[in-house]
Amino acid sequence: MALKLPVIVLNVKSYRESMGEKGLALARICESVAEETGVSIAIAPQQVDLAWIARQVKISCLAQHADALEAGSRTGYVVLEAVKAAGAVGTLLNHSEHPMDIADVDAAVQQAKQLGLITIVCAKDTDASTALAKLRPYSIAVEPPALIGSGIAVSKADPKIVSESVEVVKKIYKDIAVLCGAGITTGEDVRAAIELGAEGVLLASGVVKAKDPRAALLDLAGGIR
Ligand code: G3P
Repeated sequence: MALKLPVIVLNVKSYRESMGEKGLALARICESVAEETGVSIAIAPQQVDLAWIARQVKISCLAQHADALEAGSRTGYVVLEAVKAAGAVGTLLNHSEHPMDIADVDAAVQQAKQLGLITIVCAKDTDASTALAKLRPYSIAVEPPALIGSGIAVSKADPKIVSESVEVVKKIYKDIAVLCGAGITTGEDVRAAIELGAEGVLLASGVVKAKDPRAALLDLAGGIR
């Protein structure tokens, strides 16, 4: 199931502010801001909250990571079939905070396709975007690790990495949605990303750590409307 583009994807990571009931509250904020603004918003809840949250909101939910493994005799892994059973539409893969071997990304992307799940594969730079695009995931999200959690938006501080990733990825497969992330906190940051050719943003701390997450998300959504 594809996401409506352009999209804001909120990865709530493992922050205390996004655990359990707080995670559900964030998902409900995403749902109501999406309804109110018409902007497409998806959320990647904490892994242990995924199924519980996915059952209670209408917006698309994603896993933050999945392992390229078949279901079966395994302990503590997140298999893609379980992601689907949880009610998620897909998963993030290869986040710089949860890096994977490219062979595992490939296997996970292919398994996800068979299950009808989408994959948003994170890339740390333009070269990684190029290599990972060849696996033909649903989406590539370019995120330079140095700017993650910095509040300094990739779309302003490093516009080249965004426009170059769009260029290289689209040359390989036009249908891959290119997102960008790292330091995105305002509607202006989102607008700058869209102007560079990105089809959405992947972000975390700008909403999860905000004093008023709803106000932060409304501002971010304003960059797309
Ligand atoms: O996955 C989103 C991410 O790594 C960006 O984090 O906190 O800079 O928005 P943040």
